[in-house]
Amino acid sequence: MKGREKICAKLSSTFLRKWWFVVAVSIGCLLFGIMVLIFFTAWVNLVVDHVLTLRAGTQTFGWWSKPPVLPMMKVYVYNVTNADEFLNNGSKPIVDELGPYVYLEKWEKKNIQFHENGTVSFNQQKIYTFDESLSAGSEDDIVVVPNIPMLSATSQSKHAARFLRLAMASIMDILKIKPFVEVSVGQLLWGYEDPLLKLAKDVVPKEQKLPYEEFGLMYKKNGTSEDTLTIFTGSEDISKYGLIDKFNGKDNLTHYSSDECNSVMGSDGSIFPPHMTVNTTIHLFDKDLCRRLPLVFDKEVISSNDVPAYRFKPPKNVFGDLEENPDNACFCPQGPPCAPSGFFNVSLCQYDSPVLLSFPHFYLANDSYRLALDGISPPDPEKHSLYMDIQPMMGTAMAAKVRVQINLAVSQVVDIKQVATFPDIIFPIIWFEEGLDSLPEEMTGLMKLATKIPPIAQVVLAIILFVVGAILLVIAIWRIVRGANRLSSLHLAPGHVGQPNKPKDVPMANVQKY
Ligand SMILES: *[C@@H]1O[C@H](CO)[C@@H](O)[C@H](O)[C@H]1NC(C)=O
Ligand SMILES: *[C@@H]1O[C@H](CO)[C@@H](O)[C@H](O)[C@H]1NC(C)=O
Ligand SMILES: *[C@@H]1O[C@H](CO)[C@@H](O)[C@H](O)[C@H]1NC(C)=O
Ligand SMILES: *[C@@H]1O[C@H](CO)[C@@H](O)[C@H](O)[C@H]1NC(C)=O
Ligand SMILES: *[C@@H]1O[C@H](CO)[C@@H](O)[C@H](O)[C@H]1NC(C)=O
Ligand SMILES: *[C@@H]1O[C@H](CO)[C@@H](O)[C@H](O)[C@H]1NC(C)=O
Ligand SMILES: *[C@@H]1O[C@H](CO)[C@@H](O)[C@H](O)[C@H]1NC(C)=O
Ligand SMILES: *[C@@H]1O[C@H](CO)[C@@H](O)[C@H](O)[C@H]1NC(C)=O
Repeated sequence: MKGREKICAKLSSTFLRKWWFVVAVSIGCLLFGIMVLIFFTAWVNLVVDHVLTLRAGTQTFGWWSKPPVLPMMKVYVYNVTNADEFLNNGSKPIVDELGPYVYLEKWEKKNIQFHENGTVSFNQQKIYTFDESLSAGSEDDIVVVPNIPMLSATSQSKHAARFLRLAMASIMDILKIKPFVEVSVGQLLWGYEDPLLKLAKDVVPKEQKLPYEEFGLMYKKNGTSEDTLTIFTGSEDISKYGLIDKFNGKDNLTHYSSDECNSVMGSDGSIFPPHMTVNTTIHLFDKDLCRRLPLVFDKEVISSNDVPAYRFKPPKNVFGDLEENPDNACFCPQGPPCAPSGFFNVSLCQYDSPVLLSFPHFYLANDSYRLALDGISPPDPEKHSLYMDIQPMMGTAMAAKVRVQINLAVSQVVDIKQVATFPDIIFPIIWFEEGLDSLPEEMTGLMKLATKIPPIAQVVLAIILFVVGAILLVIAIWRIVRGANRLSSLHLAPGHVGQPNKPKDVPMANVQKY
């Protein structure tokens, strides 16, 4: 009797210990499964943040410094076909939209320098090569466009002394400078010698000198930019990943009347802070835009290679006047009057030239500006709006169409006979589309993995953990219950009838006392 109980207790204790251990494991599995459901996304985000952070030698760094993408710039020129009638007879100007003139681009970041505080500085290189086969014309096509240096000079002299204006008129007479120039598309973009700029370079005091004697809308843009950008690598604060810390060593612009408008804290358009939601406002900073451009969520799209992305667009009132968008007041430090709705005055960044930016075909501006000229079709958001498709989890630009039109706000100046008949008009010159259609397979493949795998992995992992946990738990409980029953049936020897359910783990000490 004693011996049998002893054996039985020993058996039950090792047997039960094993199954209690299994119970613990199964509960662990279930708890881990719950944690997977709750925390998996956060763990994946940590991994994503680590992978995204710019560090020398990583694949992300390689893609950032020398993007394996094929951006393309398309240029459309408004060729003025009735310049003489417009000047002499006051006819409505007629323009003929020519293009696209297509340039393939190659981007690379030069002079990359990492700083200790989680920033990196570099100079952006962009090489443009003309692609005749994709273009609707040749770079040598001759176009007639407003003479931007001249009209800038005359517009600026509007409030100068009368004798200055008269002097200007006679200089222009001598130099045979006319309000419209005949140049090739290539010259208009990449530069032609301008007599007025050349003169200014020779006579204007050194401090006020314009830096160039050539004029071109993309002058000196083919090559490595002289502007140094310092951006955040994400190593200290992933929410600033890719944002500009300093532009040419400066925290902010100085043109405008508030810190918000002067801020350069935007992306250069390649990488953005990750983990975007539909409520995120992103900012693009571009030197020629002279400000940060806010972009807000528009819709979900399927981008290149089936990777889902968010489409971001500028809000409709981005260039609104003060009535439409009171926040724009700080962009008009000398106003009112300020630029009309749909235009952005970049005069302060363009040596005080009266240059207004807008969207192509005056999209989002009052139709009256478009109808002041003949030959411009109504704007079509598909063709003329600006958007970027961004993979929201990683903040990578998947596709983009950055479209901007350059206009000259000409004002009538009576004493300068060359432009005396020029009415107050916003004259469109050219519009650009800087586009990125897709990313290479190697990048999208990784993004696909990063976006598709984690949710599946989470569910699969959670299911496995729950199933394994549940099965183990059931088995263990079943064995324990059965073991306990067997034990109690063993204990159900004569004399023990009154106490059928003895404690399962009968202490050895108790047993020995008998
Ligand atoms: C642009 O317009 C002018 C007339 O104003 C014309 O001579 C010229 O051929 C036009 N250019 C092109 C490329 O059509
Ligand atoms: C100006 O208009 C007149 C009459 O409307 C016309 O005869 C003349 O040819 C026009 N001048 C030019 C330069 O087109
Ligand atoms: C980081 O260091 C660089 C170089 O020392 C400096 O120019 C920059 O202002 C610093 N940025 C921040 C955010 O401290
Ligand atoms: C830009 O520069 C490269 C060489 O640096 C040259 O091959 C190319 O033709 C230039 N592009 C234009 C549009 O001038
Ligand atoms: C803007 O720059 C000026 C001069 O560099 C500086 O004094 C000011 O604090 C800056 N403002 C912000 C918001 O960084
Ligand atoms: C976005 O904002 C709306 C309204 O403020 C809110 O209901 C929604 O939950 C937000 N969505 C996200 C993903 O933050
Ligand atoms: C553009 O800004 C400049 C400088 O602030 C100002 O003199 C000019 O009048 C503005 N032009 C328009 C059309 O608002
Ligand atoms: C456009 O401008 C005209 C004239 O300046 C004005 O009468 C009209 O109300 C404007 N339209 C809109 C939609 O603002």
